[in-house]
Parts: sequence; C-alpha cells; structure tokens
Amino acid sequence: MVDDASSGGIATDTGERRIVTILFADVVSSTRLTAELDPDDIKELMDHAMAVMANAVRTYGGAVVRFQGDGIKAMFGAPRPAEDHAVRACLAGLAIQKTFAANVGPKIAGRGQSPDRLKVRVGIHSGLVIAREINTDVGHGLDLIGATVSLAALAEKVCPVGAVTATMATADLAGAFLEAKPFEPVGHELAGRYKFVEVLGVTLSARAILARSNASDDLFVGRVDEQQKILQALDQTADGGRVIGLVGDPGIGKSRLSIEIARSAAARQMPVYQIRGLSLTQATPFAPLRGFLWSLLGLEDRPDVATARTIAESSGLSGAELSGLLELLGTESTLPSGGEALGQENRERVLRAFCSTVSKAWGQHPALLVVDDLQLLDSETVACLRRLARNIRETRALIVVNGRSEIRQVMQRLTDEIIDLPPLGKERLLEIVASLAPHVAEDGELAGRIADRSGGVPFVLEQILRVMSREANTLGERVLPTSVESVVLARLNQLSGDAKRFAQIASVLGEETDYRLLQRLAGSAGGETESCVAELVNGGFFSPVVASTVRFKHSLLRDACLDSIVRPERRRLHGEALASIEAHFVSLNPYFEQLAYHAEGAGRDDVAIEYLWSASKLAAANSAVHSLAILFERAMACCGRLGVRGEKREVDFVLLAFDAMQQHGKVMSVVPRLGRAADLARQQGRKDKECLARAHLATILWFQAQHEEGCRLAERAVILARDIKALPALFYAQFTLANLRYGCGDIPGAIELLQSNIDFLTGDLECAHLGAIGIPSVMSRSFLAWYRIDQGQLDEASRNIQRAVEVADADGRPYSRVLAHVARGRLNYERGDYAAAVGVLSPVRDWCWQHRIYAMEPIVTGLLASALCRTGAGRAGLDATEASVGKQFFRGAARMAGYYLFAGHGEALAACGDMTRSREIIATAVSQTEDPFDPCLCVAGRILQGQILLSAGEIDRARPDFERALKVALQVGMVPSAARAHEGLAQCSRKTSDREFREHADAAAGLYRQCDLTVPVPLLS
Ligand SMILES: Nc1ncnc2c1ncn2[C@@H]1O[C@H](COP(=O)(O)OP(=O)(O)OP(=O)(O)O)[C@@H](O)[C@H]1O
Ligand SMILES: [Mg+2]
Repeated sequence: MVDDASSGGIATDTGERRIVTILFADVVSSTRLTAELDPDDIKELMDHAMAVMANAVRTYGGAVVRFQGDGIKAMFGAPRPAEDHAVRACLAGLAIQKTFAANVGPKIAGRGQSPDRLKVRVGIHSGLVIAREINTDVGHGLDLIGATVSLAALAEKVCPVGAVTATMATADLAGAFLEAKPFEPVGHELAGRYKFVEVLGVTLSARAILARSNASDDLFVGRVDEQQKILQALDQTADGGRVIGLVGDPGIGKSRLSIEIARSAAARQMPVYQIRGLSLTQATPFAPLRGFLWSLLGLEDRPDVATARTIAESSGLSGAELSGLLELLGTESTLPSGGEALGQENRERVLRAFCSTVSKAWGQHPALLVVDDLQLLDSETVACLRRLARNIRETRALIVVNGRSEIRQVMQRLTDEIIDLPPLGKERLLEIVASLAPHVAEDGELAGRIADRSGGVPFVLEQILRVMSREANTLGERVLPTSVESVVLARLNQLSGDAKRFAQIASVLGEETDYRLLQRLAGSAGGETESCVAELVNGGFFSPVVASTVRFKHSLLRDACLDSIVRPERRRLHGEALASIEAHFVSLNPYFEQLAYHAEGAGRDDVAIEYLWSASKLAAANSAVHSLAILFERAMACCGRLGVRGEKREVDFVLLAFDAMQQHGKVMSVVPRLGRAADLARQQGRKDKECLARAHLATILWFQAQHEEGCRLAERAVILARDIKALPALFYAQFTLANLRYGCGDIPGAIELLQSNIDFLTGDLECAHLGAIGIPSVMSRSFLAWYRIDQGQLDEASRNIQRAVEVADADGRPYSRVLAHVARGRLNYERGDYAAAVGVLSPVRDWCWQHRIYAMEPIVTGLLASALCRTGAGRAGLDATEASVGKQFFRGAARMAGYYLFAGHGEALAACGDMTRSREIIATAVSQTEDPFDPCLCVAGRILQGQILLSAGEIDRARPDFERALKVALQVGMVPSAARAHEGLAQCSRKTSDREFREHADAAAGLYRQCDLTVPVPLLS
C-alpha cells in the first residue's frame, strides 16, 4: 500500500513531530469517466495516472504515503529529511500536471473521449504533523496526523482543474524559488480563513545572486571587517587569483555577504559568475557547473546541439577534452545518470575540459566567481572546483565559496583562507528591525527581545518579524516561525540517530544543562555522550561545552528540538529528569524552578505545585518580580489542573504574589484572583488568610481611590482579625483601613488606627516582619507621620519618623527604608528645608530603581522634583519626572503616588518655562482629585495650582483654587495647608484690598504658629 515512505528515520510506536509538506493529487470527476469506459480501459488509465503521480513524487525526493481511490497522498521532508521540502513538493506538483497534459490526458483521446476529460488537481500545504509508522494486523505504513493533512486536502479540493495550489505556509517556505499568484478559492466554507496561491513555476536558475547583485535597494548591515578583507583580495587579483571561504550557521548571512561582494565586483566592471549548490541536484554530477559555463561562454541558456558543437570546436580544446565540454554544456551526455559511479577516465576528461575552458575564458582578466552553498554541491562539482583552485594563482580571478559549518573540512582543502561569520551584534540586529519593521523598532524593549530571540541570525530575525506582522504584532516569549523550525528540524533529522536523540533529551532539560545530568539521562537511552556532543557542536546545535555545561547555540534551536518530540515521550523524559535531579543533587534550592518545570512536563502537578511554591518564596525574597510573575501564572495554571486539590496552595500563592507584586507596582495581575482567594480561604476555615485577602481587596480600592467602598471592606477585615486575634492580619487590616479613612478625609480616624498598630507592635514585634511586605511598625509609623504632617503636628511626626528610620535602617531591607525615608524627606520639605529634602529623597529614588520598588517611585520622584524646583534646580526635577512618567510606574501605584508625580512634573515644567504643559498637567491632576473626591490631595493640588497661577499674575483665576483649598483643609484639619491657602488669598488681595490682605495674612500667621512653622516674611510686613 505504501511505498518507499517507510525507508527509515521515523520512530515506529511513538511517532515524531516533523515539519513536512504534504501533497494531494486527485483525478478529476473520475466517477463520470469510469461510467463511460470499459473497466479494462479504466484500470489501465488509472494505473498509468497513479504511476505518473508516484513517479513525480519520487523524482523530487518525496514519499507516497497512500494511494487512495483516484489519487495519492505524498509527503516531502520525511522520512528523508530535506530543508527544501516545500520547493520539492511544488516541483512534483508541476511535474504531475505537465505529464498529465502531455501524456495521460491524450491517452483517452484514443478511446473516444476528449483529452480534457482526464485531468488532475494538486493541493499542497506545509506544517507540523505527527508521523508514525504503523505495523498492525490490518497493515503497515506511514500514518500522518495533524491539521496539516486536512489543510493539504483542502488545498487540493479548491484547486482549479489542471492547476497546482499551495497554501501561504508552503509559499513562505519555498520563498524566492516559487513563482506563484494569489488565488481566491470560491464557495468553500473554510476559504476565508486561509490564504492560497496558485503555483506557476519554480526557478532554480543559477542567477539568483547575480540578479540580486544588480538591485541595490535591500539592506545590508555590519560585516565590515569581513567585507573589507574580501574587497582587498578583489583588488589584488593582479598578483594572482585566490579562493576565500565563508563559513557560518544557516541564515547567518553567507549568501548575503557574497551578494555584497558581487555588487562591488560589478561596480569595478569585473564579470561576476555563480555556481550554486542545490539539494535537488546534489545527486547529479556536474549539474551546478552548467549554468556557470553557459554564462562564461556568453550563452543565455542551454545551447542546442549544433550551437554547442560550434562553441566547443572553436574553444581550441581537443579530443577528449572537447567531448568533456560537450557533456558539461548539458547537450550530449555519455555520462551515466546520477547514482552510478563515474568512470575515472570520464571524470578526468570532464575535469580537464572544465579547467581549460574556465582558464581560457578568464585569461588574464579579473573576474569573480561566487560559489553558494558548497555543502549542496555534488562531489564531482567539488572535484572540478578543487582542480580549478589548484591553478587559481595563474588566473586573476577571485573565488568566494560559502557554506555551512559542517562543510568546513572540504572547504579547507579548497580555499586559501576561511572567514567565519559570527552572529550579528545586537546593534546590527536592531538596525534590521528598524528597517524592516519601523513600528516594532519604536518599542525599544520589544525590539531588543526580538533581537535576542534571533540569536544573532538575521534569517531568524526576518522570519520573526514576518510572523509578527501577520499576527498583529504579538510576540509570545517563544515565537518560533515555521520557516525557522523547518530548517532546524531538517538538520536535526540529518544527524545520526544517537545525536538526534541526544539533542532531544537536552532540549527537555532546558536551553543549557549540566553535562553529567544529560549524560545520565542520555546514557539510559544508549549512545556515546562525547561523540554525540561533538556531532551536535559540529552541526551547530550546541556551543562548545564549557564548565560542564551543555548549551544550545540559541533558544530557537532548543525550542525546535523540543517541538519535535511527541507528548508521551516528552512526558516520560520529564519524569526521568525529575527523578534524576531529585536523586543526584544534594541541595535542591537552585533547582526548584527546573524541578517544577519537569514535574509539570511529566504531568505530576501535585509535585509541581510544591516546587513552584518553594521557587516563588525564593523569588519573592530576592525581589525577582519578573520570575515571580511567571511562576505565579504557572502556579495558577497548575492549581487549575489540580482542581480542589490545588485550592489551598492557590490561596497561598495569591497572597504571596500580592505582597511581592504590590511593592513593585505590578499588583494588577493578581487582583482578579483576590476575591476567589478570600472565598476559598473562608471555605478552608483559614480566617487569617481570608482576612488578608479581604484587606488586599480593600488596598486595591485604596489604590483606585474608591475610599468609601474600600472602608466597608477593610472594616470587615478588621473585625475578622480582631475576632481571631491574628496580629499580622490585624496590623494589615488596620493599616489598610487607616489609608482608606485618610482618603475619605478622616485624618484623626486614620491616625487612631495606625497608633493602635504602633501600640501593639512593641518589644520584639517592633522589628518583626510578620510576613508583611515591610516591617509593620515602620509602615505604620511612616504613614502616621505623613498624616501628622498634614495636621501640622510636625514634632509628633518627627518622633515617629526617627524611630521608623532607626528600625528600618537596622533591618536594612529596602522597602521599609524607602517608606521611612520618604516620610523624612517630606518632613524636611514641609518645614521648608528643600535642600535637606533633596538630600534625603535623591538616594531614596535610587533605591526605588535599584530594588524595583516601583509602587513608591512616583511619589518619591514627584516630591523630589518639587523640592529640586524650590532649590532652583528645575531642570534636574524635570529630568527626574520625565523618566518616571516615561516608565509609567504610576500606573501600578496608588492614586496618591500618581498625584504626587504629576504635581512635581507640572511644577518642574513651570520652573523650566513650559507654562502651557505645566498648566495642563496640573489641571488634570487637580481635576482627578475631585472625582472620586480625595480631600487631602484636593487641598494640595488646589494650593499648587493657585501658586502657579499667582506667579503668572493671574490673580482672578488663582483665587477660587485657594478658596476651595481653604474650605476643604479646614474641614479635614490640614492646618499647614489652611495656612498656605490663606497666604495665597492674602497675595491675591494685596493690591485690591488692604483689609482682606490683612485678614488672610493674620489668619495664615496664626495657623503657621499653631503648627510650629515659621511665618513667611511677606505675611508679617
Ligand atoms: N548583513 C546583513 N544585513 C542585512 N540582512 C542580512 C545580512 N545578512 C543576512 N541578511 C538577511 O538574512 C537572511 C539570510 O541570509 P543568507 O541567505 O545570506 O544566509 P546564509 O548564511 O546564506 O544561509 P544558508 O546557510 O541557509 O544559505 C537573508 O534574507 C538576508 O538578506
Ligand atoms: Mg546561503
């Protein structure tokens, strides 16, 4: 049933994931035809049709998977690996159509039918399949599983009679070789979702480099040294010809650099020739030389017999050489066809003819010959080149040969010098991004990640950008374009069975792995570690082993290898890796994450969740927010799979993540899970956790300035905490409620709650963490001080700050220190000692960046900027706020933090003379304090806005701001602010009403004195 498909390489029972091209070919309306013909005729016709199809498939290296009814299903790229499976399938499809038109169709003409009646459709699609060999009672053969198969069948179904259609996936892989036009299938339900092309032809002509060397518009970056070296050789051919080799990984840019060299040669009026290796002609002796010789002899194309004879006879060659030349020209062949050994005599004849012809044609003129893809040349062509290279110094030609790393040894025997092409540097990669996808380049971080992902290989970079442009710019962490994966897998499948298996096992272990661990795992699968590693280093999969670490050359290679393993097998390998690490490493600490990964891969979620928990605790302790965020998502997925069994840990994870993410301003990813965590905790009878979860929910409402609703939630949490007498929960619930009360303008209420915290956080508890993100006593004192400052009780604030600073500094952890020192900075600020405030706040801002405490960064920066402005350093203030605004930290912070940042930003803009933007920004900040209403921020905002307007002489517009500030400040008891509002109003009336001025000035002076603040001079005069 199945022919040469089962010739090896595919795992029997488990199967393999491979990227292949599938071809369906089917005879059109055979039912009608058969109704009208004699069964014997039909059989004969169909047998012939099938033979034609199968022949075409085999000619291009494919395998017929099944003869089905009136057609065939064939596969390219497996079992025999081939990078160019898409091109091969297209060629086979075209060949089928051509033979049908020429031979098969006309056959029925003799049977009284129109030759048009016997026609075929061919559909082609490329993609991932699971290929496995089945060997059962029912039969044996190759079985292909996956959507790729149905899509190929669809491509066939929609194909116009007599044509070949392919999907875009195939067209992408076939690339520049393909001549095709877009094709819109009509009336098919799936059609809208897929893009098809009609295949018109395939160009394998050797002119690719030459053609591109005439176009000068495409991008070329870097490679300066390499280029210079070759150009120098190009300029020195007068001293004798040379052969230079270019070696590097697939897609690194060997051909592209060769094109660049060809351009330079053309610009120097040097003739440029090309010999190009193709996997399709690798079995045909001398095939790649033909095109070269034709162009060398000034022919457009293959000459006819007579022309070839004339040319040969006038070439000055004699006897044997002359017939050798005729053979090389491809018009008359006495050579055996591909596969059979070439007689020594024949071979010598052709070699000599080749060298003589080339030397004669080149004479003493400079010329460039580019040999592309040495690894794909047949051995006879290589022999010719070697012969030519031996005498190259007698010519004035430069030969530049490029090829992949695995051909290095052959290259060494052919060249005078080899240049290795390393991966492109990041800057160069970013240039490519900027040129190919300017919109992506605008997002520097994204562009950087893409560049990293490409591993320095421009081909990979281009393909990633292409996938992104199709898929609306989304870049998953591990995007792996099919085109790239296809190349990697073809190479993987060309390795020895042991090495391939070794690479697959390594890919399960990770991008880099411990040599001994790999050895243990691979050992049980058989195979010599050392020789496998050597083969994989040589084949460009691994970097050379350093310090017992085996590393994939880049992440894409690993991902592609991993992708080639079927799931049950992958599961088994993960299980083995898990057991092996657990058994062999004394301390598992550094491996928690890896163990979790293997446990997940092995389907052992119960084990995975515990390792994830350990890894998350470590990450939280190290402020590794990014890792924590990833671990959190994995944990949530794992809990989801575990169902009820995962619910306890789910609560733990949510609470842990909330704490850690809160200080880093990334809390929003956890928020949607808080409500469920609170409910689960209650069901589990864990009241302390329930209380924390509810308090966290209240915190979020505080962040969003939803103070009243937040108060209700936090009050319930406080009651719950008192009920169970859990101090950590009580502290946290009261702390949250205090902030919410402050948000409602209830400053005394807030202070009372914080004081209650401070009262029980004494003795050992004063320095304890109690599982909170900062030291509870420090958090309570810092906020208490902040609120006391608002009340004007600066001495009381100062005492609390002093103690908070002592405790936080002694502890040393950054979050608590930031809180305590910000309060210290604000106290200096309110006292009018702006230089001292700058001195305190500058390092605090650095800590925020250094330790990624992004939730506090905006408030620190805002205050700092304002203090800077008041010491005359407005420019520095603006730089600071601009950086913070640009980073958007305020989005993950409390509303209050955002207010301070934009207030500082507005002030800095004013200080730098940009009044328009200053006003806009401050007006926005102020209007946001009104809705939802936040009295304390409203007061601060109105005063700032009033002062800025006043300084611009806009008294009438400033007055309402001061009035509003005064009213609210008096309501909530913000004494210094009330003083400032009076002061502002005094300034407003200075020129218009002496009485009003005095009234406000006196009121201000009284309030200033009430809170131990010095009375500003203008008020006294
Ligand atoms: N220096 C470069 N500047 C800009 N683009 C480049 C550069 N080098 C390579 N590219 C692009 O990367 C892609 C791959 O390059 P190229 O075909 O030259 O790789 P190769 O090394 O010849 O690969 P293979 O081993 O598959 O033949 C091409 O599209 C090419 O235009
Ligand atoms: Mg190339």
